[in-house]
Amino acid sequence: MYLTKRQEKILMGEEGPAKARALEIIVRVGESLGADKLIRIRHAHVSGISYLNIGEPGLKLLEELADTGGRAEVYTTVNPSCIDLSGESLIIDNSVADKQLRINKALEKMGFHPTYTCIPYLYRPPSINEALAWGESNAVVMANSYYGARTNREGGPLALAAALTGYTYHAGLQLIENRTASVRVRVGFEPGEGDYGLIGLWLGENIEDIPILEFPKPPSYYGLKLLFAASAATGSHGLIVVENVTPRNTYRVEAEDRVTIEKSMLEKYQYKPGRDESILGYLGCPHLHPGELYQLAGMIESYERVRSGNALLLSIPLDYYYTMTSEIAILRRRGVDTAFGTCPIVSRLRGEYDVVLTNSGKAWFYLQKLHGFKVAIASPREIVRAIMEK
Ligand code: F3S
Repeated sequence: MYLTKRQEKILMGEEGPAKARALEIIVRVGESLGADKLIRIRHAHVSGISYLNIGEPGLKLLEELADTGGRAEVYTTVNPSCIDLSGESLIIDNSVADKQLRINKALEKMGFHPTYTCIPYLYRPPSINEALAWGESNAVVMANSYYGARTNREGGPLALAAALTGYTYHAGLQLIENRTASVRVRVGFEPGEGDYGLIGLWLGENIEDIPILEFPKPPSYYGLKLLFAASAATGSHGLIVVENVTPRNTYRVEAEDRVTIEKSMLEKYQYKPGRDESILGYLGCPHLHPGELYQLAGMIESYERVRSGNALLLSIPLDYYYTMTSEIAILRRRGVDTAFGTCPIVSRLRGEYDVVLTNSGKAWFYLQKLHGFKVAIASPREIVRAIMEK
């Protein structure tokens, strides 16, 4: 791999041990993927920061990097952690707060922005064709497919290394030849609010190559957000081309195969909770966009309260605690639980429920797989109706 003089100096430790260690990781991975050089990135997004996932070894590594001079070389955001940063959620278990707060302190010491969210594009929307190094699969697909930027699906350590050096390897989805859609997937019905997550689950499970998706009508932004997240959970997509949405000249198409998704093909992901089952409603995987939270607060305002035995949990970025105070107040007055800078997949939950009802295909997948919940998918309107009383 070709390295510039500066990159060689970094490797030799001239800009400190943390940066040398980070660049070595990127060079090794790049070489194994056949990269010819390193390229500069404009934004790193670091995932894998939950104490429950990375434990003591991860905590130690982050503190060591921060203490040995590791500092962000580019704009860097961070994914949700395992605690509710408001400390007010009754559902998220904050018992490892002391450990998680040490991780957060190390991240902030390195100059990372304390966003604690999986929708980093809200804070800095990527530009067409700009190079990024993002962890968090839902955000990766959004960056490549909606914004037309270029990022590989980085693991936590690689995104961290990119943040500390400002570089990534020139391979994978950074190259136009690897952004070629090879199968046309037609959505054979007009999706409602609750259908996008289901389409994503099916797509991830059944289509391995990069697809080009065709909808009967323009899909909604919030719908695509759910679809991309679900597809990246059940499959390995980093790019899903959406006709008339993905910016031109950021992908190629060489598709001979054609598949149609019919509504009947999505039935296996659905389940109707029984009348006596206690329900945990969950919205916010990926974290709710301000527009989604605003709509929800409007919808919930006409209800009295969450019905006894049920709960409704929303996961949202930390800063809404300070910026969306009137919406949060409406929700809390009606017994809705709001968790800031976390989500039920990267944290532990308190309370027992027979079933989780969510609009998120990604949550459907992980809440069953990691926490053993029974999970069903519904639209936000159906969820609110099932959980709240007038
Ligand atoms: Fe975000 Fe947690 Fe879902 S990190 S994408 S809300 S699993």
